[in-house]
This record gives sequence, C-alpha cells and structure tokens, in this order.
Amino acid sequence: MKRILLIIGGGIAAYKACELVRLIRKSGMAVRCVVTRAGEKFVTPMTLAALSEDKVYTDLFDLKDEAEMGHIQLSRQADLVVVAPATADLMARMAHGLADDLATTLLLATDKPVLAAPAMNVRMWLHAATQRNVAQLRADGVTVLEPDEGAMACGEFGPGRLPEPEAILAAIQRALADGADVLEGQPDFDMGEKRLTHKHIIVTAGPTHEPIDPVRVIANRSSGKQGFAIAGALAALGARVTLVAGPVSLPTPSGVDRIDVESAREMEAAVTAALPADAAVMVAAVADWRVDAAPEKLKKEAGPPALNWHKNPDILANLCASPQRPKLVVGFAAETETAIAHGQGKLLRKGCDMIVANDVSVDKMGGEVNRVHIITREGVDSWDRMEKSAVATRLAERIADALA
Ligand code: CTP
Repeated sequence: MKRILLIIGGGIAAYKACELVRLIRKSGMAVRCVVTRAGEKFVTPMTLAALSEDKVYTDLFDLKDEAEMGHIQLSRQADLVVVAPATADLMARMAHGLADDLATTLLLATDKPVLAAPAMNVRMWLHAATQRNVAQLRADGVTVLEPDEGAMACGEFGPGRLPEPEAILAAIQRALADGADVLEGQPDFDMGEKRLTHKHIIVTAGPTHEPIDPVRVIANRSSGKQGFAIAGALAALGARVTLVAGPVSLPTPSGVDRIDVESAREMEAAVTAALPADAAVMVAAVADWRVDAAPEKLKKEAGPPALNWHKNPDILANLCASPQRPKLVVGFAAETETAIAHGQGKLLRKGCDMIVANDVSVDKMGGEVNRVHIITREGVDSWDRMEKSAVATRLAERIADALA
C-alpha cells in the first residue's frame, strides 16, 4: 500500500485537506497527517485523525513522539510527501531550507518526492517573492501545482485557489507513477490503464475573445465543453495535460494543468510556451480576426465604430510548421455544411495528422452531444452521435494508439 505524508499549512483552504484525506483513503492509500500550528486554527487534529485513521502529528518538540518515532523516520516512511495547502509562508520557508517547526523539518529531512498544492490570496501568489520561491522549489525538484483561478474567500478573483481535492489526488497518482520505476518493488496501483504516462499533451479549448475596447469583445459560441472533456480523458490515461483555455466558466478537469487566456495571440503564446509536447489537440474555436482595440470605451454619440480588422495567427497551422511540432497534431473543424469535405481540406491545408470534424448545424455549439468524423490521410471514420464525454474518451484512446 502506498503511503502519503500530508502536511497541512495554515489557510482557509485547509478545510479541503479533509476531503483530500478522504479521497486518498478511498483510493486505497494510507495517509498520515502533519498540521502546522497555523493549520490547526483551520482544521482540528481530531478530524484528521478520524478521517486518516492514524495519529496526527503537530509538534516538533513532543518528546513522546520523538521517542516513539523520530522526525527523520516520519519523513521517510512515506512514498510521497504532499503539502496542501502550501501557503506563501510555508513555501518561503521550504525554499530557504528553514526547519523551525515539524512540517519544515520533515520537508528538509525527507528523501522522498514532494508535491505542493499552493493556496493563497491572488496578490500573494503573484508577488515576485512567491514566484521566486516557487521557481526555486521547482528547481529543487518539488512538484508545485498551479493554483486554480476563481473567486477567493478573501473576496478577490484570480489564481490562488487550492486545486480541487480530486485534482490533487490525480497529481499524487501521477507523482507516484513517475516515481514508480525508482521505487522498490511493483507499484501498488493498476498501471494497465495509464497508456499515456510520461506523455505531455497540449489541449486548446473554448472561444477566444478579441477586444474592441476595454468593455467589449468579439466572441463566438464555443462552450469549451468538448475540449475540457478531452483534456480530462487524456489526464485519466496518465498524460501530463496542459489545457490552454479561452474564457469559459468550466471547472478544471482532474489532473489537468490549466492556463487561462483571452485572445488568439495570448493562446498562441501559451501554446508555444508549453512546448515541447508529444501531442497537441486544438479544440479551441479561435477567432480568425481581431480589430485594433480602442484604449477607451467607445461612445455611441461617435456613431457606428469603424473597426480595423487584422488576421489572427493560425495557431494550428503555425504549430504544424514549427520545428518543435509535436509528433501528433489533431485539429477540430466545426462546420455547418459538408463537414467531411471541409475537414479533409483543413487536414491538408494546416498540415495536421487528424481532423475531428463535426456538423454544428445538427448538434448546436454548447450542447452535450456531438457527431464527429475522424479524418486522417488514411480515410474517414464516422462515429455515432454520442455525449461529448464519450467522444473525449474514445478520442483519448485513439491518441494513445497513435502515440504508442
Ligand atoms: N485554429 C487555430 N487558429 C486559428 C483558427 C483555427 O488554431 N486562428 C484551429 C482550431 O483550433 C481548429 C482548426 O484550426 O482545430 C480549425 O478551425 P476552424 O475555425 O474550423 O478553421 P479555419 O481555418 O478558421 O477555417 P474556416 O474558414 O472554416 O473558419
């Protein structure tokens, strides 16, 4: 049985650690909790002891525990050390190698991989000091997850929310899978289904918004559902997935690293920054055109605005032509007529390996179902009409076949 040492820092997100403990136990792993002094203000050791069915450790100077088990042993008996929530303060102390409490002492003494799930106020996360500490921790080999973006307990909005417990669990499973070849013995969990372990896949999803002025945008009807489902299905097969998402209000699928963007040019920059990758699946409905955005809000007294149009980069075509082209590039084509013929044209014009074409005049954009045609140079495979989640699962399997 795999063993997790979970270090719980002091932040409002500490309450989510309870759910994480429950999920770790449910997935068949053992978990032992260490709570910092600040963490104890948000979640009690008694709750954690009940959920983990184990003793909870809090104090470095609890001599009885030092007699029972030294902190060195405690830090090494686990297969993985997880810090959740990793507060700005805790990460700063980790980055500087401080050992002034039980949590930081264990983190310094451990010889096991460490995974940190940050949670803090958006300004604290974006602060140069925190970003420097995160970069240092990553350079030291710590896996630091990206925090989620959204409304925060403090009333602000932005990146800094603790990733959902399901996403942290998926990251734990990935970290254990990555380390499985260096751990002694056989991994305890089933590796049979994880066909995409060690593969990095970029997925784009959702619409792009092209600004007209500070309050108006050019948008389209893409909901992002199909792209998010594909990102989740690829992660479920063990891939490291970077999801570059346009403006949508969808939760991040389990185990997926998400980068939010607005415009086509931001999306292209995020895709380029995420390279290299083994595969890219471009599901986003990228706006083909943008306009020169007015610096101030346009007033109607000035009459209908004359918009000055420019062509946006074709992210898919540029990726296919780039020296860092992933081995497999999949494009989407949402069409309102002759989906297959248009899809075949796009396959050749853009230089990708597969086009997933769907007729959006039949299945409205934003709906739950899709009828797709898988177009490759070898031919066309038309799938029955099915839920977007089923399309995602089947496509992920097909991608795994192509990368095998
Ligand atoms: N795409 C892209 N960048 C663009 C436009 C499209 O990466 N600027 C990608 C989409 O993500 C999708 C594929 O190209 O995977 C096809 O998108 P679509 O809008 O259907 O293609 P267009 O080339 O824009 O063709 P159309 O004239 O039909 O709009």
